[in-house]
Amino acid sequence: VQTNLTPLKSKYDFTMGCAAVYSDLIDDHAQLLTHHFDSLTAGNEMKASSLYNSKHELDFTTADKFVDFAIANNMKLRGHNLVWQSQVPDWWFTTNLSDPDNPKYFVSKEQLLKTMKTHITSVLQHFKQKYGSKSPFYCWDVVNEPISNSHQNNGIKGLDEGSKWEAIIGPEYIDYALRYAHEADPDMKLFINDYGIVNDGQKTTDLYNEAKKLLQAGVPLDGIGLQMHIDVDSPSISSIKDAIEKFGSLGLEVQVTELDVSTGGKTDAVTLAKAARRYKQLFDLFESEKKYIKVVTVWGSADDGSWLGANNSPMLFDTALQAKPAFNALVQAAGTP
Ligand code: G3I
Repeated sequence: VQTNLTPLKSKYDFTMGCAAVYSDLIDDHAQLLTHHFDSLTAGNEMKASSLYNSKHELDFTTADKFVDFAIANNMKLRGHNLVWQSQVPDWWFTTNLSDPDNPKYFVSKEQLLKTMKTHITSVLQHFKQKYGSKSPFYCWDVVNEPISNSHQNNGIKGLDEGSKWEAIIGPEYIDYALRYAHEADPDMKLFINDYGIVNDGQKTTDLYNEAKKLLQAGVPLDGIGLQMHIDVDSPSISSIKDAIEKFGSLGLEVQVTELDVSTGGKTDAVTLAKAARRYKQLFDLFESEKKYIKVVTVWGSADDGSWLGANNSPMLFDTALQAKPAFNALVQAAGTP
């Protein structure tokens, strides 16, 4: 790891976040994390399916290590996530675990609401109590990826047709989740986090309408997480800008929560230079939108750990943890060398 580099976090007004998996905290990636970032997100380890042992009891052993690491290195924590249709325990929803391709939901709305409330409350209170009376987290993704990609949900336009939460509880599952979270930790900033929102399509409108409806109903919602898993060429900067301002104008905080830029399988010098220009344009945009954008989190430190695979060259550091043209563009972009 190049420890002589100017820390990325020293260059921008917004908080500079990074997602990591547990192994990153105990190998060379740890140095990248602490040198360049001041906010940490657990990439997988705080999702519901990661928090229960085989006896269906909560086990915070690994999750707590993220908190200890962050505190020891003066980093803030972003919570990801409380309610999602993926990476949740099967036993919350089904009986026929032997046939996962053909699940049958057997829980009632009341049972599932109870499960949801217990989970949200237990997680938020665990972190609040374990580290003093105040949580070391500055926000949580309470509901992750609730919006439909196709807008085809016949029952409830706009919400994800694949969501077990929506199927069993109804569209108001989002309201319940946010209210439970607020009850468990009234100081916590509560977010809805989703992907494909910066493309300025139907999904943007659907999330906008949902957020507006929640705010009008007095539901505790503080912000929108724009995941931003995007490509070198699309969506356009102006469409990303529009999305930021659209949600910001609702009075919500906007965070970039899972940024990565896929090169579509190319790793040649020309493409890496293109990715560098793209990162610079994005960070310039975020800086110019600092009224709304308080945090920018990249979804991984180096290419080797990215969910997209190193051949898509999505991150700021390469598989040898060396700074890529994208990193250099950012550090130079913000002014003084
Ligand atoms: O831990 C097991 C390991 O024991 C096993 O050998 C291996 C074999 O497949 O799988 C490992 O689990 C994988 C886990 O990541 C940890 O690496 C899962 O299969 C894999 O599905 C899981 O992928 C995660 C994905 O969410 C799941 O939906 C990615 O790491 C994680 O980066 C990704 O993050 C999501 C955000 O939470 C929400 N937004 C989209 C984003 C990217 O997909």
